[in-house]
Amino acid sequence: MTESLEAVPVIAIDGPSASGKGTIAERVAAALGFHYLDSGALYRLVALAALRRGIDLDQEVALAELAKQLDVLFGGGQIMLSGHDVTDDIRSEICSVGASRVAVWPDVRLALLTRQRAFCEPPGLVAEGRDMGTVVFPHAVLKVFLTASAEARAERRYKQLKEKGIDANIRTLLQELHERDERDSARSAAPLRKAADAREIDSTVLGIDEVVRQVLEWHRQIVVRVAGSDR
Ligand code: DC
Repeated sequence: MTESLEAVPVIAIDGPSASGKGTIAERVAAALGFHYLDSGALYRLVALAALRRGIDLDQEVALAELAKQLDVLFGGGQIMLSGHDVTDDIRSEICSVGASRVAVWPDVRLALLTRQRAFCEPPGLVAEGRDMGTVVFPHAVLKVFLTASAEARAERRYKQLKEKGIDANIRTLLQELHERDERDSARSAAPLRKAADAREIDSTVLGIDEVVRQVLEWHRQIVVRVAGSDR
């Protein structure tokens, strides 16, 4: 890791699927004027590109090559793949499952590492995913591990899909969440786990607003402490 990368403050937010990481990370980034990285989107993009090109999700070498060559553009709330808007496409269930499957391959993860670190630019970054605090940004000034019960997460996913007019079944969603949790936590390469120095917060009872407030407060305390020790 370069020195300049370590000089940029990073807030790492990790946790399981549908724990509210995306909304919380975006809001924390907006409040601080920091950049925002949705690392899961990169795994979803690899899955989408592979499915479109007919590449099997078990082909580690071909998937890693694809990950290296992805022509992706993030901006203005949109995600473009080879010039096409895929913002909604990558949120489909087939891409959710596909992302979790391509994410087990170490070479795919390695291919996405540089892309993720490229988001680390002044004045700071809020990065969310599964291994932000453990692998991608181990120097993060603040690491948050966000949990929520599987039932609460399935409920949230159900509401999101309904709002988009997509038909969904809560029991199926719960089952899929359990399967993804298992795959994301059991894989040997950068499994989902709480970094030793991460602070844990449960969004089951707290609600998104309170979690955002807590993360901003933790960050404020760190800034004050660092400013104090520099004096
Ligand atoms: O955060 P998400 O649900 O969009 O992520 C989709 C999948 O990508 C998730 O099931 C596991 C994988 N992923 C990962 O392995 N590491 C990350 N940092 C982010 C996502």
